[in-house]
Amino acid sequence: MKNTASSLDNKKKFLILGCGFSGSFFAKAIRKFGCTALTTSRSENSDPNNYVFNSEKGIVPNDKIFDGVTHILSCIPPDKNGKDPVLGSLQNKIKSLSIEWAGYLSTTGVYGNKDGDWVSEIDKPNPFQKRSHNRLNCEKEWIKSGLPVQIFRLPGIYGPGRSTFEAIRNQKIRVISKKDQVFSRIHVADITNAIIYLLKNKDSLKFHQIINIADDEPCPQIEVIQYCYNKLGLKMPKPILFEEAQKELSPIALSFWMENRRVSNKLLCEILGYKLIYKNYKLGLKDCLLNF
Ligand SMILES: NC(=O)c1ccc[n+]([C@@H]2O[C@H](COP(=O)([O-])OP(=O)(O)OC[C@H]3O[C@@H](n4cnc5c(N)ncnc54)[C@H](OP(=O)(O)O)[C@@H]3O)[C@@H](O)[C@H]2O)c1
Repeated sequence: MKNTASSLDNKKKFLILGCGFSGSFFAKAIRKFGCTALTTSRSENSDPNNYVFNSEKGIVPNDKIFDGVTHILSCIPPDKNGKDPVLGSLQNKIKSLSIEWAGYLSTTGVYGNKDGDWVSEIDKPNPFQKRSHNRLNCEKEWIKSGLPVQIFRLPGIYGPGRSTFEAIRNQKIRVISKKDQVFSRIHVADITNAIIYLLKNKDSLKFHQIINIADDEPCPQIEVIQYCYNKLGLKMPKPILFEEAQKELSPIALSFWMENRRVSNKLLCEILGYKLIYKNYKLGLKDCLLNF
């Protein structure tokens, strides 16, 4: 990380809306800096810092959760009507606060299919799937809100507890081979670390409203699966050709195979100077194996 004066002092109070896989990783990390982090999820749990927020059921968190909040991170996907749950339910409340920064976790699905080419933030989004149209609309809603929002476009997220190793163990894996198909991915620690890096260096770095967070090496999914089988000392099942497999894939699984792109991280890593912890899936999966 760059050694500029830290603007991430312990007076910052974060509200992390949607404390799922990425949100909980972020909350843990930010607390290590001494910052306060309150979180939300759709149902109650034993964490005293977690509040219930469920836009679908009209449950909004108690007002006290907003006291003194300086930073917001939304990790909540569009609702079933394609609307942003946070803006739909909490926009006026959030606008009444003195927010310094709002982060929104989006997806690289907004770029659509690029037939394997690289995509960067300057490419015009061209969503193909309905969910990606919804996502792009949510991004636009956040920008229109006038809040100081920074949007992070993410490819497939993996990390300890949610990786190909678990998929193999839970027999949730289909070994599919599709010519020239690649996927981009990101380790959850790099999402957190990149955001913290940008916040720490906010005063010295040019502000970019939209930033991709992806690793350096998009590659075929089968390569990742083979790597995991090797690491586990197991024999990978014989791959099924996509042309055959597609007859049995669920619509959601199929939709991921209909888009092919390499997500560029040049803005984050070259222009803004962030150093990835896990540059590629091999490094990232070694970390996942430690907790497997
Ligand atoms: N997973 C991926 O590979 C991937 C890739 C690119 C982008 N993304 C996007 O990046 C963001 C973070 O991903 P993730 O995998 O860390 O997410 P995740 O684990 O699925 O967590 C999503 C969070 O949103 C909450 N939530 C969902 N619907 C809600 C609603 N209507 N009202 C209130 N809260 C709601 C969930 O509540 P509960 O805790 O109660 O479940 C959960 O805390 C998401 O927007 C996701 O779509 C994901």
